Amino acid sequence: MPTFAIIGSQWGDEGKGKIVDLISREADVVARYQGGNNAGHTVVVNGEQYILHLVPSGVLHANCQCLIGNGLVVDPQVLEEEIQALEGRGFEVRSRLLISEGAHMVLPYHRLLDAAQEKLRGKGKIGTTGRGIGCAYGDKVTRVGLRLGDLRCEKVVREKIKRLASFYEPMFENVYHEKIPSAGKVANDLLELAPKLVPMLIDNVTWLNEQLDAGRKILIEGAQGIHLDIDHGTYPFVTSSNPSPGGISTGLGLSPRRIDRIAGVAKAYTTRVGEGPLPTEFDEEFGNRIRKEGAEYGATTGRPRRCGWFDAPVVRRSTLLGGFDEIMLTKLDVLDGLESVRIATHYRIGGRDVPVFPMGVTMETEIEVVYEDLPGWRTPLGQCKAYEDLPENARRYIERIEQLLGIPITVVSVSADRGGAILRRSGFFA
Ligand code: IMP
Repeated sequence: MPTFAIIGSQWGDEGKGKIVDLISREADVVARYQGGNNAGHTVVVNGEQYILHLVPSGVLHANCQCLIGNGLVVDPQVLEEEIQALEGRGFEVRSRLLISEGAHMVLPYHRLLDAAQEKLRGKGKIGTTGRGIGCAYGDKVTRVGLRLGDLRCEKVVREKIKRLASFYEPMFENVYHEKIPSAGKVANDLLELAPKLVPMLIDNVTWLNEQLDAGRKILIEGAQGIHLDIDHGTYPFVTSSNPSPGGISTGLGLSPRRIDRIAGVAKAYTTRVGEGPLPTEFDEEFGNRIRKEGAEYGATTGRPRRCGWFDAPVVRRSTLLGGFDEIMLTKLDVLDGLESVRIATHYRIGGRDVPVFPMGVTMETEIEVVYEDLPGWRTPLGQCKAYEDLPENARRYIERIEQLLGIPITVVSVSADRGGAILRRSGFFA
């Protein structure tokens, strides 16, 4: 089974970085297919923390090649800085990182526009990460964007930037009343980075399929989560790409027929950053407590994450969209100190029982969340190595979630460190 995908099943920040790092031991290639440096994948190795924004988490394993697919939007400056920071910490990156020539670039216009639009939205803001992601995807879709492959030719870069500037300059001046860098500066900055990035560019479609034909194992790393999906998330409080597995085919150029196994990653509770519906959200006091226990602050922006109970309807919808073979449950240890734990089993909307988070939920939708209470375990889980080491009540919690979702939980993460995971299956590519 050569391809294995890891997908976020909630609103991102499920701990995918750690899971990808765990499975990377067995992989030859780790490939990302969507998003940009709005993502922040945190991995802790021997007490040292690494936060990866664009480079796939597999980079921390010398055996892995890493691929940035055409479905990402790449801020070239941020990528170069990330590569340099990894090199500074002793990782060989340039010979192992491949970047799709078809990936679009995040330009200064996009970052500035992201901030200006959020300001204009006022109370109706989305709470973006401010990295220009949605605006870069916007230019991609309206067919005016620059792709990394354009960096190969100075004339192309200058012409395309001049064309972009011809509508961004009056827009910023007249609508947003903001100063922006000149077209010449934007182009020069890109061209300065070109010699560093161009050697890593490839046609990912032929390359990836060649890897598969050669029997190499490909781990596919999702960013964000299915409920942030532009099509299937809580629109408009979503990101601008497709974290759901549909994005794999377009974002890597991999036929859906070549995706062999898909795991959904779910946190043992629920979090989201930014605005938008979160039906099981804790009250402020309890939310502060769990945020502190779980260090729930955005890895990219440092913003406090909103926290709530595990929400089965949320993950059920992701399971439908993701076709998950299994769930990997993270951060169970954050609930260690609780007397009792709750799971949202279903919703009641308009007097009806609703088991699956419905399409079209808005902030105005009146959802009554139906909970089930289970006893807490009140024991630190950090040192548990095998499933049998877990206290009975922790196992009950896990098994109840399995029952509610109808799929097995194969990995349980009980501490931030690389070693802190209980594997209930071995051989991820077997
Ligand atoms: P954008 O992707 O920066 O446009 O932000 C759109 C929404 O997605 C905001 O609510 C962000 O907080 C959220 N978001 C984007 N990336 C992540 C992520 O990696 N983890 C969690 N939330 C994210």
